[in-house]
Amino acid sequence: MIIGVPTEIKNNESRVSITPAGAFELAKSDHKVYVQSNAGLASGFTNNDYKNAGAQILESIEAIYDIAEMIVKVKEPIEKEYELVKPNQIVFTYFHFASSQALTEAMLKSKAVCIAYETVQEDDGSLPLLTPMSEIAGRMATQQGAKFLEKPIKGKGILLGGVPGVQPGKVLVIGAGVVGVQAAKMAAGLGASVVVLDINMKRLRYVNDVMPPHVITEFSNEYKIRKHIINADLIIGAVLVAGAKAPKLIKRDMLKEMQHGTVMVDVAVDQGGCFETTKPTTHENPTYIVDDVLHYCVTNMPGAVPYTSTLALTNVTFPFVKTIADLGWKKAVDNNPMLRKGLNILDGKIVLDELKGIF
Ligand SMILES: NC(=O)c1ccc[n+]([C@@H]2O[C@H](COP(=O)([O-])OP(=O)(O)OC[C@H]3O[C@@H](n4cnc5c(N)ncnc54)[C@H](O)[C@@H]3O)[C@@H](O)[C@H]2O)c1
Repeated sequence: MIIGVPTEIKNNESRVSITPAGAFELAKSDHKVYVQSNAGLASGFTNNDYKNAGAQILESIEAIYDIAEMIVKVKEPIEKEYELVKPNQIVFTYFHFASSQALTEAMLKSKAVCIAYETVQEDDGSLPLLTPMSEIAGRMATQQGAKFLEKPIKGKGILLGGVPGVQPGKVLVIGAGVVGVQAAKMAAGLGASVVVLDINMKRLRYVNDVMPPHVITEFSNEYKIRKHIINADLIIGAVLVAGAKAPKLIKRDMLKEMQHGTVMVDVAVDQGGCFETTKPTTHENPTYIVDDVLHYCVTNMPGAVPYTSTLALTNVTFPFVKTIADLGWKKAVDNNPMLRKGLNILDGKIVLDELKGIF
């Protein structure tokens, strides 16, 4: 198969979808890999690394889309790329269709085969291609939250861990999935007081088992959220309803109950956000303020740490890339129920049940 690796052009997105090690494996199996010039540079991989691994370098993004039977990306195609996607071309990447009608319409129009990383699903409902990015985003959420609590960046002026004789900061994490657990772990590690809310008792039991005693779990509902936001210094939104828009758990009117300078990090922004006041932001301009509450809503948080993220992502995506390349998308999907769940759009139609109800 002919595989194309374009340079990511989303704002401050520096990851690359296939490493030289991946290109080497594909070339060994007689696949052709075309990498856009410098696509891997920000992740630490030069054009020569790819060439030595058996890939070929093309200068322009147009040339990559033009030649490839399968485009492997990291983030969803952005507007400039919509017209480059060809009928029957396989596009394997994060799409997050639920949060963008424009992208969905463009991909329907393109008649491409859109396989979304985020809906590839195991039997137990877990999302293996989302996990490593969620681990990174969860850890970063606390790191970013701690930073934006500093006064010069308009925060409350609180050190999350406190110091001897001074109480630590309070962190509220809504959602005890992968993001939530990693965020809570980092916050607990800093010494903050942490409350984790979820509606899934299994997740709360798990958190309760593995976290230190200063991490408290509670069943999530509006009453509990209203209670905890009053004192929280940092609120992290980490909920997910697979394939659907995130529920708006913090309403606009609730911001008035919070203390000035509270920081809200909405990691679920890529599914539309779980705060009513969430608007997608970029690494260049990551925050905005509503009612004296600082919002951080960067849609591609792992893009800020591409060395870590590229390796973490490709560790889990590459086996699927190889299977699709070896078998073709149809056989690969037929043979693998996990991958079948990844098929979102085919021949101008939405084929993923969860998505059909949205558009
Ligand atoms: N912004 C970024 O850069 C970035 C990076 C990675 C992941 N994400 C996003 O972060 C979100 C969370 O991902 P995850 O991997 O942790 O998902 P997950 O499925 O592991 O966890 C989600 C949790 O939310 C809980 N939940 C659902 N509805 C809830 C509700 N009403 N109240 C409380 N809890 C509720 C679920 O029970 C589950 O435990 C997703 O939207 C994901 O796309 C964003």
